[in-house]
Amino acid sequence: MADKRYVISGLLTGGLLALVLVLVLFSGDLSTRKTLTITPALYVFGDSTVDSGNNNFLATKAKADFAPYGVDLADGSPLGRFTNGLTFADFIAQYLGLPPPPPFLSFKDPQSRKAIQTGLNFASGSCGILNHTGAISGKCLSLAEQVDSFQITVTQDSQQPGKRDPRQDHVAESVVLISMAGNDYTLGYFFNPTMTKKYDPATYTQLMIQSFMASIERIVKLGAKRFIVLGMPQIGCSAPFLLRNRGKCDEQVNKIIASYNSQITADLTKVGTDWGIRYTIIVPEKIDIRQVAAETKLKSALEPCCQVDPFGICIKDSKPCNNRDDHLIFDAVHPSQVYHRYIATNCFNGTGTCMPANVLQLCRSGG
Ligand SMILES: *[C@@H]1O[C@H](CO)[C@@H](O)[C@H](O)[C@H]1NC(C)=O
Ligand SMILES: *[C@@H]1O[C@H](CO)[C@@H](O)[C@H](O)[C@H]1NC(C)=O
Repeated sequence: MADKRYVISGLLTGGLLALVLVLVLFSGDLSTRKTLTITPALYVFGDSTVDSGNNNFLATKAKADFAPYGVDLADGSPLGRFTNGLTFADFIAQYLGLPPPPPFLSFKDPQSRKAIQTGLNFASGSCGILNHTGAISGKCLSLAEQVDSFQITVTQDSQQPGKRDPRQDHVAESVVLISMAGNDYTLGYFFNPTMTKKYDPATYTQLMIQSFMASIERIVKLGAKRFIVLGMPQIGCSAPFLLRNRGKCDEQVNKIIASYNSQITADLTKVGTDWGIRYTIIVPEKIDIRQVAAETKLKSALEPCCQVDPFGICIKDSKPCNNRDDHLIFDAVHPSQVYHRYIATNCFNGTGTCMPANVLQLCRSGG
């Protein structure tokens, strides 16, 4: 996977091509020419949708470090993803020509972490944008704590006393991916009577957005300029709400989600100009599992692929279904690898899934 680098040469503009020719002429030795990659690194923030194993190192019930999770990973790949194979973030990394970003917490000593220059994964299952979200399952890393880890990465992993930090350019050219918010609304609010009593939905949404933008601002101050953000699908039609609502979507919830999506988009557009960053946001309908089921026409699209416990998590060491590529859902609450790949492919170089630009356009436009 690591040497399946995405070679930019097929996409070169005349100017870049000329530059490459000049470099080749001056380098004198063709064999030393490096493959150009689209971006030097991918940094991943989020929840169980993109956690690649950070929760393995935390005292929490929200873990996926046992079979059948990871059943479709290459032999020897560490477990910890809440799906049968790779996640959306891993596929985006692969398409960008990068290895899957390893979990930040998997490095016991900073020296070995410093050796990784192609990006890290800070995501933590069950957590959210707000600090209280996820506490019910044990310890997890909130978005603010994930940004703390990113800060360590940017400021400490590349100390060069007396020199301008080369990571500044590195970070500016890197891509930041954030997949978070679902747990804030489910675990953190609609199924949390303390919170629903304390805040009305509009106020709670404001808290989330303020907190999200504060984290984005910190990431920007650390030098990042390119963002991929996942919008929220209509969770009012997801399993916990269907169960609570006798099989019907909760339209009140969907309305609140729609307002969250439009406010996040408006705020990102505004700071895009103010802070000189570029972003792409995944269009919520395009990640809606029912919508993807309609488009892909897979046989068992909406059925889980493993036996699940009352929380919707696969029962440890239970046998997964055989036709995994026909399922968009793996356990009862997390998407399968097929779903992750479908969204990643469309967002990377398709049209209409990631707006206002796909990931390739995001990386290639401007400075
Ligand atoms: C889009 O990217 C995928 C993954 O790299 C690649 O397989 C596919 O050929 C690309 N499609 C286009 C139209 O560039
Ligand atoms: C959330 O926790 C972080 C520490 O990780 C803290 O800096 C921040 O102030 C907290 N936010 C709120 C709203 O309490």
